[in-house]
Amino acid sequence: MNPHIRVEHLYKVFGPRPQRALQAAHDGADRAEIQQRFGNVLAVDDVSFEVGRGELFVVMGLSGSGKSTVVRMLNHLIEPTAGSVEIDGQRVEDLEPAGLRRLRAQKMSMVFQHFALFPHRTVGQNAAYGLAVQGVDEPERSRRAGQALETVGLSGWADRYADELSGGMQQRVGLARALATDADVLLMDEPFSALDPLIRRDMQDLLVTLQSEMHRTIVFITHDLNEAMRLGDRICVLKDGRVVQIGTGPEIIGDPANDYVAEFVADVDRSRVLTADLAMREPRRSFTPDAGPREVLDWLDEQEFNGVYVLGDDRRVLGVARDDRLARGIREGAAAIGDLLTQDYARASADTLLSDLAGLAAQHTVPIAVLDDNGRLLGVVPRARLLAALAGEEAHVDA
Ligand SMILES: Nc1ncnc2c1ncn2[C@@H]1O[C@H](COP(=O)(O)OP(=O)(O)O)[C@@H](O)[C@H]1O
Ligand SMILES: [Mg+2]
Repeated sequence: MNPHIRVEHLYKVFGPRPQRALQAAHDGADRAEIQQRFGNVLAVDDVSFEVGRGELFVVMGLSGSGKSTVVRMLNHLIEPTAGSVEIDGQRVEDLEPAGLRRLRAQKMSMVFQHFALFPHRTVGQNAAYGLAVQGVDEPERSRRAGQALETVGLSGWADRYADELSGGMQQRVGLARALATDADVLLMDEPFSALDPLIRRDMQDLLVTLQSEMHRTIVFITHDLNEAMRLGDRICVLKDGRVVQIGTGPEIIGDPANDYVAEFVADVDRSRVLTADLAMREPRRSFTPDAGPREVLDWLDEQEFNGVYVLGDDRRVLGVARDDRLARGIREGAAAIGDLLTQDYARASADTLLSDLAGLAAQHTVPIAVLDDNGRLLGVVPRARLLAALAGEEAHVDA
């Protein structure tokens, strides 16, 4: 299937006589060398990537790494020095002025960090702005703007003035403006960077929720790795205008392309990126319900946990045999563990975040069970292994 956005060998050189600098860049000169030899800024240096339809693609890098220039070249707000951009298989450089206007107004909506709300217009008018640009008439404009405001949790605010709103609410209006247009690509350039951390977190959650319903294609820019990890289906890491790595959050954390990325991800909150499948292992042993309680208890005595999963057909979990119950069963003459099981154990699925496992691990003394949708045991996460995974040592631990 065709990608929604395809970027191939994109370059941007700022400053006079860019072709000279471009030639040097083609020959391998990096940003620092170009700056020194020609005085030009090599803002974007051979960037290629593809974004699938409905994907939330994050471009991440420090300030100055070329993120904004890349995103502005997608709709040619900035003219590339070389390379090509295709949207839906259509090369943007081939578009006539009218086609380019249509692309910007209808196909791609932009949200900026400090996008301009008109302070003396109402929230409703601000949300409808993109539609007005598209030539959508009243009352259709109001209706769709109202819907978008409702989506971002601002219904009832349409008649207030923009400058009456807090920063976080203003950013919601910006989001509503972008959503109202029906554009199937959203370009978001650090839209949450100016917000304080809690509001920012809310906005990230809101975007994730909205995206799970609307499945637009989103190119989201951030300099914040945690934000990138939280939002991105995939992340493209830029440094000095070049792509250093493209991958999912867990791929980048688990296998950084070089020392630069490794250092960058060193202090990311791993617990909010990595999932149970990365920390789980095969259970050392499992039992069937006909096993004798003495045998199981003797085995448990040698383990650092005090219960073991009992499996039926298909590895379906029937329950946990816990040492205290087994001991009581033995005193009462039970023949098999099947009657002694408890359902008091922690369950997770393969994609449960480690941060959520940490809460579960604190409440249970039996390793967490990782189950598939049919209740079959995929693996277990003992506490020691969870701690190791959180510390970034999963490869070396056999807990
Ligand atoms: N219009 C311009 N003229 C000259 N240099 C520019 C221009 N716009 C951006 N740059 C430079 O290009 C580099 C990349 O900038 P930018 O794309 O804004 O990075 P980011 O968005 O990652 O902070 C920076 O060194 C910046 O100073
Ligand atoms: Mg920028």
